[in-house]
Amino acid sequence: MAESMKGLKRTHRCGELSLANVGEVVTVMGWVQKQRNKGGIIFVDMRDRAGILQIIFEESDCGTENFEKASALRSEFVVAVTGKVEKRSGAVNENLSTGEIEVRATQVRILSEAETPPFPIEADSKTKEELRLKYRYLDLRRPDLQKNLILRSKISTTIRSFMAEEGFLEIETPILQKSTPEGARDYLVPSRVHPGSFYALPQSPQLFKQLLMCSGYDRYFQIAKCFRDEDLRADRQPEFTQVDLEMSFVDVDDVIAVTEGMVAKVCKEAIGHEVQLPIQRMTWQEAMDRFGSDKPDTRFGMELKDVSEVVAGCGFGVFTGALASGGSVRGINVKGQAEMPRKKIDALVDFAKGYGAKGLAYLCVMPDGSYKSSFAKFMTEEELSALVAAMDGQPGDLLLFAADKLKIVWSVLGALRCELAKQLELIDNDKFNFLWVTEFPLLEWSEEEERFVAMHHPFTMPMDEDLALLDTDPGKVRAKAYDIVLNGVELGGGSVRIFQNDVQEKMFEVLGFTKEQAWDRFGFLLSAFKYGVPPHAGLAIGLDRFVMLLVKAESIREVIAFPKVKDASCLMTNAPDVVDSKQLEELCLKCDVPVKEEE
Ligand code: AMO
Ligand code: AMP
Repeated sequence: MAESMKGLKRTHRCGELSLANVGEVVTVMGWVQKQRNKGGIIFVDMRDRAGILQIIFEESDCGTENFEKASALRSEFVVAVTGKVEKRSGAVNENLSTGEIEVRATQVRILSEAETPPFPIEADSKTKEELRLKYRYLDLRRPDLQKNLILRSKISTTIRSFMAEEGFLEIETPILQKSTPEGARDYLVPSRVHPGSFYALPQSPQLFKQLLMCSGYDRYFQIAKCFRDEDLRADRQPEFTQVDLEMSFVDVDDVIAVTEGMVAKVCKEAIGHEVQLPIQRMTWQEAMDRFGSDKPDTRFGMELKDVSEVVAGCGFGVFTGALASGGSVRGINVKGQAEMPRKKIDALVDFAKGYGAKGLAYLCVMPDGSYKSSFAKFMTEEELSALVAAMDGQPGDLLLFAADKLKIVWSVLGALRCELAKQLELIDNDKFNFLWVTEFPLLEWSEEEERFVAMHHPFTMPMDEDLALLDTDPGKVRAKAYDIVLNGVELGGGSVRIFQNDVQEKMFEVLGFTKEQAWDRFGFLLSAFKYGVPPHAGLAIGLDRFVMLLVKAESIREVIAFPKVKDASCLMTNAPDVVDSKQLEELCLKCDVPVKEEE
């Protein structure tokens, strides 16, 4: 039977007590982690969000009634215990912050009993994630998740205070918005009052923050929920959080400076890591050429080398064929791996094929200087040694080559170098390598849509020196866009915005919008620009990803209280779910989807 708290007040959290409290009478409240009955003495580990505390019950201290209650305690019962803090009589527990003390109980109340949980509440859980997510409220009791969410809260607080000090105003923007598709797919919300019309949930507060600049708010920020209906991965969720900011009367360097200040402060306060400022900058072109990625992991080398010129005219048709059709041949040098078993190399070839490669050519420079290779037989001795020299190949090295359209070569070798670094354990997990990638292309050709699409979004400013190319060679235009990368993960991105109507209209034209379509979708922004718009720029950091990297979690689900799984459903609440036919009627909606059979 549940007892009340009447007359009791919690004095401390369990994990807050230490040697400094010895001699004090305290009242703690929390969950029973474990109870061990040793006959005349009962040990109870009590847990709350601050940690675990050992309680000792002896009948001579607490009387028969309390002792009987203590002997009835089971895991996850919620209890209130009053007692005296003592230096631990037994061995000190180095693993606990409270390991040097214990509380000798004089009273216990059972505030709530508990059924046996479906999995043990413990750190480093071995329980399958599906089960943990179904009972997320229990999972969230585990110390690792509590640590992550407590740190996340601290990070949000640090960001808010930093931004306030820098003169930013926190302003909320609407969640029910107009759909302005571009980028990911929107989540739509039907309107009851306007049958047949839909709101969209924001993919980001982009347009509203630009409007706030038009309205003179100067420096805006928001810790904003964003929604994108896209395929999920370990670092993506359908709803996620951005630290979103926008500034007026600024250019690239100003946004970068504020962001660096924020990131450095967060790293220092959250995990005591000192970020070396300024953060290294690299153009998109250099990042692609050296790492095959616009979010390079710079914690290890194995950089890409362009050998197109070296293999031009060689006897290997795969190389010369790719070059003849306008492609490129590039390689990576996997140091000291010449003797990698054939089976493993074959697995790398399959891996490369997953990224669009037609194959992966390899050349092992054996320790005795001979070659083992999938293509050496097509080349002369001179051609081979020129290739090895171009790759800085030494005896013992494994050289891997991709020959294809440059985009595919980059994507294959970029992914391969990360995969190999993981397999060969080349990555120092204690490193936090920040990097700015700048001067992104403004546009990207979409084979699917047969038109240019914005690489960042349609409001991104071309670089001044490339403006004229917008008419003549749009694919070559570079943008005033920048991404901040941490350990090979895109942490955030932003840009200087177009603020001149003529440039914005030209941009829409290049993207294939008619004037009418552009005004229909973005008229409110274009109209606002007619009434005095300051030059402005901004950026958004993915907060979930930032916390994930700082706590070294494998997935952003580990730093989100109630995340969704791969198919965007919530295993705990069963969302999304069917709704009452009455609700659909009110919305003038009909669902023709066949009912799914129970599996
Ligand atoms: P962008 O689309 O690059 O820029 O998003 C900014 C950052 O948000 C994070 N992010 C995500 N995190 C988790 N799950 C997702 N599905 C997801 N999608 C994005 C990433 C990313 O770097 N409005 C612009 C910013 C600007 O120009 O100011 C924007 O949204 O960390
Ligand atoms: P093939 O002539 O198709 O048997 O290929 C010979 C070798 O070249 C094999 O090791 C293939 O994996 C490799 N290869 C095939 N296509 C490519 C490509 N586009 N880039 C790099 N290597 C390739």
